[in-house]
Amino acid sequence: MTTVLDDFAFQRSIAPDCDTTYGVDQTLTVCPESNDLLDVRYDWDRLPVPTSLKEFEAAWANRGNPLDFSGVWRFRRLLPFAPDDQIVTIGEGQTILQQSDPVGKYVGMDAGQLYLQYEGLNPSGSFKDNGMTAASTHARMVGAKIAACASTGNTSASLAIYASTTGLFRVVVFVGSGKIAFGKLSQALDYGATTIQIRGDFDDALRQVRAVCAEGGIYLCNSVNPFRLEGQKTIMYRVLEGLGWEVPDWIVVPGGNLGNSSAFGKAFLELKELGLIDRIPRLAVINAAGANTLHELYEHKGLRWNDGRPDQTLIDAFYTDMDEKNRRANTLASAIEINRPVNLKKCLRALDACDGVVREVSDAEILDAKANVGAGGFGCEPASGASVAGARLLRKQGVIAPGDRVVCILTGHQLKDPDVTVGYHAAESDDRLAEKLASGGVMERPFANGPIVVDNDFDRIMEVIRQIG
Ligand code: F0G
Repeated sequence: MTTVLDDFAFQRSIAPDCDTTYGVDQTLTVCPESNDLLDVRYDWDRLPVPTSLKEFEAAWANRGNPLDFSGVWRFRRLLPFAPDDQIVTIGEGQTILQQSDPVGKYVGMDAGQLYLQYEGLNPSGSFKDNGMTAASTHARMVGAKIAACASTGNTSASLAIYASTTGLFRVVVFVGSGKIAFGKLSQALDYGATTIQIRGDFDDALRQVRAVCAEGGIYLCNSVNPFRLEGQKTIMYRVLEGLGWEVPDWIVVPGGNLGNSSAFGKAFLELKELGLIDRIPRLAVINAAGANTLHELYEHKGLRWNDGRPDQTLIDAFYTDMDEKNRRANTLASAIEINRPVNLKKCLRALDACDGVVREVSDAEILDAKANVGAGGFGCEPASGASVAGARLLRKQGVIAPGDRVVCILTGHQLKDPDVTVGYHAAESDDRLAEKLASGGVMERPFANGPIVVDNDFDRIMEVIRQIG
């Protein structure tokens, strides 16, 4: 099983006591020796590493080359695991960093200090495309014929679009029943993925798909796949690019399976190691209160990375208690409705590297924040609203200062979950949506902007129009 490092890129366990390496031609989701998560690592000394981030600007003038056009692969020298001719790209990563004073005001920031990174602008409408382009590339390198994932909706939409547009492999996606937002389910169906709806939740679906992939030799595209996280590092490169290569004070990101936060930490650790940045920003990972494993373990039980040796007994005891009480994840931010985050340990490493904090926010706080992003920006899906709600909480607590430069990652597009959005703005018009909101404890909707219902009569309509002033 073990291969000698004979190339510039290799796979290795995150466990500090395991130095066995595996080639990038192998398909693994855990280290066979340590049973821990794997990283893709590089022999940077033998690679043409840039001497300054500004060097990446050369790619801007070369948009005719799909690899330079891609917002992921124009940084390929920082994820050099694939030969150029194997790279699978569909034009992902054309996302922007928007400075937003209306949202900044809501959060409590000084003017000019709050930024929103719109990952919903990716081809499938979420940040997942950053990772899926990398996983698809690796799937192609190893000759995979079928790829699979479990998903709360965005991973499946992303995997499905890569398969449908490239025709490189067939796709099976596993989703929980009644859990997935319709925008996302519609994507998997429309892109032609075989969609298996499990009578269970995301945690059940992920357990099953891991077993199915191991049994059937199917390529697994969840974030236990270390290649996926390599692509997700580039979200941070684009944030730096958007800030003229300056490092912000804070990155705030929603936490579900904790792939993004893990990837961000790795990105900054590597940039620092390569001398491409002089300091690392602080990281805030925001859980939904109904799916708060990381918050509980990190903020209440004191779980830490501990130089790669986190207290496993603490983690095991937490999950045993969760199972005994049959505690299931439950939040209207369905994207992050996850109680067993597979990247927990990598996220602890990221929090350690980035002097991080973890917070939890209620569904009501999430939806209020989301409404403010909609009213003052391009909009986002509920889970993404968690980052803005989290930034607001950290401002209130004085952890974030009003003059800090803060970047909230908006992970998914506004159109992903129309039910929750319409429910928030117009619950009174639809009992089903009202019930849905109530199930998340959302009773007050201070930023609701419901439709004005008017008779089909010109004079009545004009009365309403005149009231706008
Ligand atoms: N935001 C959105 C919109 C997501 O879809 C997800 C994860 C997250 C945040 C959390 O990111 O897992 O890296 O901590 N969605 C996964 C899915 C689980 O299946 O689409 P994470």
